[in-house]
Amino acid sequence: MLRRCFLMALLLPGSWAMAAEPSAAERGYKTLTGKGFIPAAWREAAYDNLWKQWPGVTQKPADYDAAVRDHYGLPEAPYPNGKYPMGLRAGTLFFMKGVSLDCMLCHGGSVMGKSYVGLGNASLDVQAVFEDLSLADGRSGRLPFTFSNVRGTSEAGGMAVYLLGFREPDLKVVPKRKDLGLHDDMCEDTPAWWLLKKKKTMYHTGGADAASVRSKMQFMMTPITMASEFHKAEPAFRDIQAYLKTIEAPKYPLPINTEIADKGKGLFQDNCAKCHGTYGEKWTYPNKVVPLAQIGTDPKRYEGIEDKFGLYYNQSWFGKEQPGWLLDDMATFATAGYQAPPLDGVWATAPYFHNGSVPTLDDVLNSKNRPKLYTRSFRTDATAYDSAKVGWKVTPAKEADPSQPPYERRKIYDTSKPGRSNAGHTYGDHLTDDERKAVIEYLKTL
Ligand code: HEC
Ligand code: HEC
Repeated sequence: MLRRCFLMALLLPGSWAMAAEPSAAERGYKTLTGKGFIPAAWREAAYDNLWKQWPGVTQKPADYDAAVRDHYGLPEAPYPNGKYPMGLRAGTLFFMKGVSLDCMLCHGGSVMGKSYVGLGNASLDVQAVFEDLSLADGRSGRLPFTFSNVRGTSEAGGMAVYLLGFREPDLKVVPKRKDLGLHDDMCEDTPAWWLLKKKKTMYHTGGADAASVRSKMQFMMTPITMASEFHKAEPAFRDIQAYLKTIEAPKYPLPINTEIADKGKGLFQDNCAKCHGTYGEKWTYPNKVVPLAQIGTDPKRYEGIEDKFGLYYNQSWFGKEQPGWLLDDMATFATAGYQAPPLDGVWATAPYFHNGSVPTLDDVLNSKNRPKLYTRSFRTDATAYDSAKVGWKVTPAKEADPSQPPYERRKIYDTSKPGRSNAGHTYGDHLTDDERKAVIEYLKTL
């Protein structure tokens, strides 16, 4: 009898079990925050010895994990991650404990003292993370190309171009790298993941279908990931995609003057909505790509991903993704310029533009007032936040001097350097100071 009950329990799908089944988005969050997709690249001791690479530091700091977070601009993880900050994680390296990286290295940020999965990390020194972990592991700190020229930005596009060069179209690894046009002066700011649900096309140029799952797997391309791993991981990335589409923009945490914001809403409808859409319950988003000559922002990101890469990508496993029966492959494509992003949660996503060249909303809307040569604390608490201009507080800097260590030089944003121009997007210039203030007050409500 007991045995028969046991068999029945196995055969009948228990409704209680169905109810407890997690949704795709829930599974996606768990996978994203709980599991690494690439093997560890360094031994665990590399993390513990990072401080030995810090200029002028002679003994291990007392609160070590906090010191690591501060040195590299890595936020505390808002999910269980052991001693590691968001972006680093425990992994294994040839059966030993190791340190690995995950998507939140660039896609986990912090603002007003709070960490968010999906906020681009605008404080990260990704160049130092890679160099120091390798040096602390007893290896050379030389990277094959520059991973970051200026703190808070990365050459993520260059990484994808470099890594795809080591793959056959079916993703088998080849020893000799194909030249797909490598550039390392794009200075990319990481977009917030909560904008993805409104987008038809993604990336700064709008050059890929936002629904593509495989495009989001490019980060797995380290040469130690075998081709079969990509096939195996695709269902998990489908879940991650479902999770990304559920992320909501965080609400502005300080008081908002609703009367002024209402006035700003009208100005926004007249001056901005045709490109950035409308907000509220019945939102619209035109998904507009503005030609480069018209938008006038820095061209390096636009030029930096060449057709050579796009054509090869489209021939590869990445480009051969069929979203459904009789539907076309999800290829990448050339566009005319940069995509006007939705502005939900824009108060939290400073600095602005695809190259993070403009530190506040006030400066976005007043192109003549934009700082040209500046630095910031790279902290993300309330004292680092500029609630008057809405964005990060910056201080004027002197031109970087070659005698300074590269870690210090990367803290200086010099808009005269390649990839870092802060020109263009002059759509707020004709507004009066009061009108600009009103538009900013409205932007806080999005
Ligand atoms: C080294 C930093 C870095 C890492 C690691 C990284 N990304 Fe990104 N990601 C970026 C940058 C920078 C962009 C913007 C690229 C561009 O258009 O220039 C981006 C763009 C995206 C976008 C498109 C966003 C939009 O609205 O256009 C998605 C989605 C995304 N990444 C998902 C992921 C996932 C999933 C992972 C992990 C598997 C990951 N990324 C790992 C830096 C990174
Ligand atoms: C003709 C289309 C167009 C108009 C009009 C326009 N924008 Fe934009 N906007 C863009 C594009 C394109 C970008 C991206 C530029 C880049 O990253 O290089 C952008 C970027 C921005 C950003 C930075 C977003 C980020 O996360 O980096 C803000 C903020 C912004 N616009 C606000 C406004 C406001 C406010 C107005 C109205 C006063 C306005 N825009 C009018 C096209 C437009």
